[in-house]
Amino acid sequence: MTSPPLILGLESSCDDTAAALVRGRDVLSSVVMGQNALHADFGGVVPEIAARAHAERLDLCVEQALDEAEVSLSAIDAIAVTAGPGLIGGVLSGVMLAKGLSAGLGKPLIGVNHLAGHALTPRLTDGLAFPYLMLLVSGGHCQFLIVRGPEDFSRLGGTIDDAPGEAFDKTARILGLTQPGGPSVEAEALKGNEKRFRLPRPLLDREGCDMSFSGLKTAILRQRDALITDQGGLTQQDRADLCAGFQAAVRDVLAEKTRRAIALYRAENPSEPALAVAGGVAANKALRAALEVVCETQDLRFTAPPLRLCTDNAAMIAYAGSELFALGRVSDMSLAARPRWPLDKRAAPLIGSGKKGAKA
Ligand code: KG4
Ligand code: ZN
Repeated sequence: MTSPPLILGLESSCDDTAAALVRGRDVLSSVVMGQNALHADFGGVVPEIAARAHAERLDLCVEQALDEAEVSLSAIDAIAVTAGPGLIGGVLSGVMLAKGLSAGLGKPLIGVNHLAGHALTPRLTDGLAFPYLMLLVSGGHCQFLIVRGPEDFSRLGGTIDDAPGEAFDKTARILGLTQPGGPSVEAEALKGNEKRFRLPRPLLDREGCDMSFSGLKTAILRQRDALITDQGGLTQQDRADLCAGFQAAVRDVLAEKTRRAIALYRAENPSEPALAVAGGVAANKALRAALEVVCETQDLRFTAPPLRLCTDNAAMIAYAGSELFALGRVSDMSLAARPRWPLDKRAAPLIGSGKKGAKA
């Protein structure tokens, strides 16, 4: 049996510069150089700084990925690159390098949708069969997808404003906690009482799977200001209770919307029903536990890729590239970098654009 093609993946659509080598479902190397420190003073990702850092580091990432996998450039069978959606300067850096490598090595070029990379990861990590349901929750994305094939996605709903990770980060900022906000809010929430503050459960009264998280962060801001007016400041316990209340609200909204998404997905009679969750927010233990309960009660398999493959990385791009390559989907030198690129062309575009760039 011949071995599957060796694919070099490149990712530079937001604030992680990454390169990886993948053969079939084997990740030979996956290098991610983050940029948190570069953007820390600005309260969000600065596109120009991100683009410059990608341009400076992409080739270093590729070298390191080749070293770690102990393969040479000439051994690569194809180059897969994120061609969107994302911050255009960063996407361009990756696409230009991929074109250069493709032309120089005489190897095929494959343009990959970043969201398809996330959405196909459960096939890389767990070998999930199509169709499965995916909840993508990160700092820049939040959507439910039915994944039917490498190019066949139905978006059932998504956030109409902030992504949950963005709301965690803003909540942390409001309460003076460190960034990224997800882990620090989660740690505080463990010490808090989620019932003390009554926080909204946005859009639960509306049918369907669309979500909204920006109002929650405003509710936290109001509660904080009310406490400051009443008592002159926040105690440790106030902070913990606010974090617990916020996290419980996000958890409840995502769990209920997941129940609704499962009902829509079930209508397709999937032979091996499964829900996969991906994105940085999938690291949240309270959220995971709630989703596991939903899946248990609905008799559905629950999977979450390991965190290093849940958050932005290039292995997912290489893997998605390999699925496209198997279908003969090769790009040429006209491959364009796209700031917006919805996975589901039939679904209405989402409103809004968060700190992590355009949401497709
Ligand atoms: O997937 P990711 O690394 O980057 C993109 O947004 O594409 O996700 C980062 C986001 C941040 O907003 C971070 O605060 C959030 O994921 N996050 C968490 C946790 N760990 C990271 N949110 C909630 N709970 C966590 N434990
Ligand atoms: Zn992402």
